[in-house]
Amino acid sequence: MPQKVILDVDTGSDDAVAIMMAILAPEIDLVGICSVNGNKGIENTTENTLRTVQLLGSDVPVYKGCPAPMVKRLFPGRYGWTRAQKVGEVDGKKVEYHTDFLDMLPPASIKPQPQNAVSWLIDTLMASDGDITIVPVGPLTNLAMAIRIEPAIVSKIKEVILMGGGHRITNTTSAAEFNIWEDPEAAQIVLTSGCKVTLVPLDATHAAYVTAQESKEIRSIGTPAAIATADLIDQRIKAYNVAQPMKVQDSAPVHDALAVLAVIDPTVLQEVRFARIDVDISGGFADGMTIVDNRALPDYPKNAYIALDADREKFVRMLKHYLSKS
Ligand code: BDR
Ligand code: CA
Repeated sequence: MPQKVILDVDTGSDDAVAIMMAILAPEIDLVGICSVNGNKGIENTTENTLRTVQLLGSDVPVYKGCPAPMVKRLFPGRYGWTRAQKVGEVDGKKVEYHTDFLDMLPPASIKPQPQNAVSWLIDTLMASDGDITIVPVGPLTNLAMAIRIEPAIVSKIKEVILMGGGHRITNTTSAAEFNIWEDPEAAQIVLTSGCKVTLVPLDATHAAYVTAQESKEIRSIGTPAAIATADLIDQRIKAYNVAQPMKVQDSAPVHDALAVLAVIDPTVLQEVRFARIDVDISGGFADGMTIVDNRALPDYPKNAYIALDADREKFVRMLKHYLSKS
């Protein structure tokens, strides 16, 4: 029986691979995709999501979500990072983790649904049998807003498997990972909601790096999804080489795809701990940091699972496996 999943994305190069996994894997029954502000503004992340869905000829509905974090931008001092930031240049050409639009895919001729993502999430969860897993791989604004508007959805959510956070690795500030940093209040709402939450943080996604050689092998699979994935991974490798060199040269993480594949096979995540995890929302140096209380007896109840490692070979094997389907 396929598992029902709602994906929440800020597409985004690695989000696109996550979407492809969720559409292609027969183990997943993809109920819908919500878009959110994050890697780019909401118009871009929605368009990029539609482009990816269109590439696969899928009829999964896409719902446009929140255009900004819950409250963070009310505090000018907390908004220090610019999304227009370019990460560097190679041979005079700008290289970025995420371009404004996924240039390798044609513009979308399909449209988002008329309903807003937050109200659709509430309606869908309330009408469900409690069997839907939510996989957010962008800032947590949509889910946190839905929980604030209708707290009864919490008992209707089977579990939340989210890409976000970093324990020993961060990427946006010295303390914070991007998805949590972009909307820290939303992340804290989700973490303290009572939902079963698993964090797939940078510690796990960096362990599951994909190399340039593996990208070549993916390209040779030859399906439209495989070719697009190889293009996206190659773009990511260029950006990581310049701005965030990995321990293995010419490799990059494909963060969001790991969260989707963990729904199908949780053993792709390794070193999973149950801990007390909170997000710093104080606006200081640690704004957006995921604070993992490793003590056996934390001051507050343990509330989330966090994966500190991943089975890289299994991850790459699963990517190739699903990309050979069309
Ligand atoms: C996360 O931030 C985004 O840039 C990626 O899509 C991923 O979801 C990694 O920190
Ligand atoms: Ca993302």
